[in-house]
Amino acid sequence: MNTLKLSTYISETEIQKKVKDIAGKLNQTFKNKPVVVICVLKGSFMFYSDLIRNLDLELQCEFFGVSSYHGNTTSSGEVKVTLDLTYPVEDKNLILVEDIVDTGLTMNYLKASMLSRKPKSLTTVSLLEKPDALKVPCEVDHVGFKIPNDFVVGYGLDYQGYYRNLPYIAQVQDLQ
Ligand code: IMP
Repeated sequence: MNTLKLSTYISETEIQKKVKDIAGKLNQTFKNKPVVVICVLKGSFMFYSDLIRNLDLELQCEFFGVSSYHGNTTSSGEVKVTLDLTYPVEDKNLILVEDIVDTGLTMNYLKASMLSRKPKSLTTVSLLEKPDALKVPCEVDHVGFKIPNDFVVGYGLDYQGYYRNLPYIAQVQDLQ
């Protein structure tokens, strides 16, 4: 494992506060409505598990796996589905939970994939967004934090598969 020099960028306390803010908005929007909350693997697993624990809704959990970085620190632009949903979501209220929007290619792919299944509604959530890295226009309904175009790890986000377990988000100091 390549040991990186990290500095805390968004603390655990700040993240948990933001999770509660976003969950509060979703609780209002979907009051008395059943929802299917989709975790985009792998990066959003930690955000997702904190978020759903703050949702007071009639909800079902689903998981959708995609890979776009292939172990590098820049997006390949090519999205590969590694795990599909396990049941049809036609006519369901979907809440799609992503970790980060970088170029926007993955989120746009995810939106197109979900909309092709004809849900009743689609709401998108991303903990992070790098507005300066967008290569395509990409609308996200709820964004936790907008950050500069730097590589970050932790709270589900990885560098070559490592650092996902950090409870906070760190900026990488010495990446080539
Ligand atoms: P996009 O298609 O370029 O928007 O890339 C989205 C995906 O790239 C995310 O779901 C992450 O898995 C990964 N990604 C983008 N930026 C970072 C980062 O700074 N750290 C770790 N993973 C990232």
